Amino acid sequence: MTNMITVVGASNWDTFIYVDKMPRIGETIKGRDLKVSYGGKAANQAVQAALLGSSCTLITKLGDDPSGVNTLKNFKDKNINCEYVSVVSNVPSGCATIIVDKNGDNNIIIIGGSNDLLNEKDIDNAKLQIQNSSLLLCQLEVSLNVTLSSLKVAKESNKCKTMLNLTPINNDPLVIEMLKFVDILIVNEIELIGLYNSNFNNNENNNEKEYNVNQLMEMCDKLIKKFENIENIIVTLGGNGQLLANKDNTKNCHIELKEKVNVVDTSGAGDSFIGSLAHYLVTENKSLKNSIESASKVASISVTRHGTQTSYPKANEIN
Ligand code: RIB
Ligand code: NA
Repeated sequence: MTNMITVVGASNWDTFIYVDKMPRIGETIKGRDLKVSYGGKAANQAVQAALLGSSCTLITKLGDDPSGVNTLKNFKDKNINCEYVSVVSNVPSGCATIIVDKNGDNNIIIIGGSNDLLNEKDIDNAKLQIQNSSLLLCQLEVSLNVTLSSLKVAKESNKCKTMLNLTPINNDPLVIEMLKFVDILIVNEIELIGLYNSNFNNNENNNEKEYNVNQLMEMCDKLIKKFENIENIIVTLGGNGQLLANKDNTKNCHIELKEKVNVVDTSGAGDSFIGSLAHYLVTENKSLKNSIESASKVASISVTRHGTQTSYPKANEIN
């Protein structure tokens, strides 16, 4: 079996606390429920792609604690190629605490644990795997050097396309260096504004300012002009759909959501979107625009259910 999609990054053990309202500083509140499940942005993206039927390889690092052992079993159950999942002793696996309020919105705190030990040697070991894939998918949850070298290795072959999800937001100069090896960049509104401001020396503190769709699209166009290798920028706008900016900016478009859903928990919806996007693009050979539309349907199912991976639909749940 050839592995078409390779994902590099973090796996976490997610603890969800459901509350009516986010606590304020110094406040003690009662929660409504507590749940645990598998997470981590790279792991989530790989699992969603695999649930839809993609052949997926994950490069990640786990601890040898119970959550690491269970996580590895989970990957195998989901038919993910685990050849490059390494396990380290005496280090806790990565974990996250996710607080979800009544509206389904969340706050996430991550502890890197074993994820922080993923290193450039691990990427070197997986070099052929990456170069023989059709798509490499990265985020910013592991060391920036690891993400940078993964993207570089992928671009040494002309076969492998690269997709970078610029999250968690990071203004390190290494991120700018990374962008030279990215074909498709995926950001949310805050990440786009942060990236735009750091590239165009906008010293005003505009991060809180509201921008309309045209202004956001203009930012994308400017970034694509600056980083000539970037072919597309996708901006995820939650309930407002997505923006697709292309090198040929006459094809830019705003893809709006087709139907409203009952939002229960948005945790990991972005990862569901990206994993599905990779699936439709690579495994189903759809155009980028059609892939965005299909991925958006999948992600909108995930927000109607609790948790991250536990909320991701399988192929047979999508009509
Ligand atoms: O994007 C959601 C994910 O962010 C969670 O699964 C959590 O582990 C953090 O990585
Ligand atoms: Na969810």
